[in-house]
Amino acid sequence: MGNINLIVDPFVSPNPLAEKIDLSSIKADYILITHGHQDHVYDVEQIAQNTKAKIISNYEIVEYFKAKGIEGYGLNLGGKRTFDFGHLKYVNAIHSSVLPDGTYGGNPGGFVIWNDDIKFYIAGDTALTLDMQLIPMTCPALDFAILPIGDNFTMGVADAIVASDFIQCDRIIAAHYNTFPDISIDEKQAKESFKREDKQLVIMGIGESLSFE
Ligand code: NI
Repeated sequence: MGNINLIVDPFVSPNPLAEKIDLSSIKADYILITHGHQDHVYDVEQIAQNTKAKIISNYEIVEYFKAKGIEGYGLNLGGKRTFDFGHLKYVNAIHSSVLPDGTYGGNPGGFVIWNDDIKFYIAGDTALTLDMQLIPMTCPALDFAILPIGDNFTMGVADAIVASDFIQCDRIIAAHYNTFPDISIDEKQAKESFKREDKQLVIMGIGESLSFE
């Protein structure tokens, strides 16, 4: 955002789909963590060491990484804080959250982030939940949202379409699919399902970038 780099839930080095990404090339000023599962926190320490990035997550996860010498900002559900990149609110997710060594990982969440230029929602891992309806009531209108669509552990495509109605945002970037066999999807069908509802599902390639006017 501007010249400030945020990364979210880094799971790169053990991820077979991300083999061509060089961890040491990742720039970060902040590492946002939605919850404690290994496929969301695996590379946090390495990237924080490389970049001196600070983490933003729930209080419990921030305390866990503080014990490893990484600084951060802990929030809890419903809490909002202003950073140099804009405003950030930690919102509810229906999921679970335990850190790789078994440490309690607090409540899982998502982030709504906004400044004068751009407004977006990163749902994290979550089921469809009526709480998503609170987002357009309490935050500025979204330019896009990153929603899980892989089913099994989170929402699938059909529920993500309902979520898109709840958050009043028709431009969705897909997340949490195809990394493991349990969450493999048919990308073409997923896109068509969104299109039928006059919505856009963006499925990004590994290392691909996207910019918004
Ligand atoms: Ni998870």
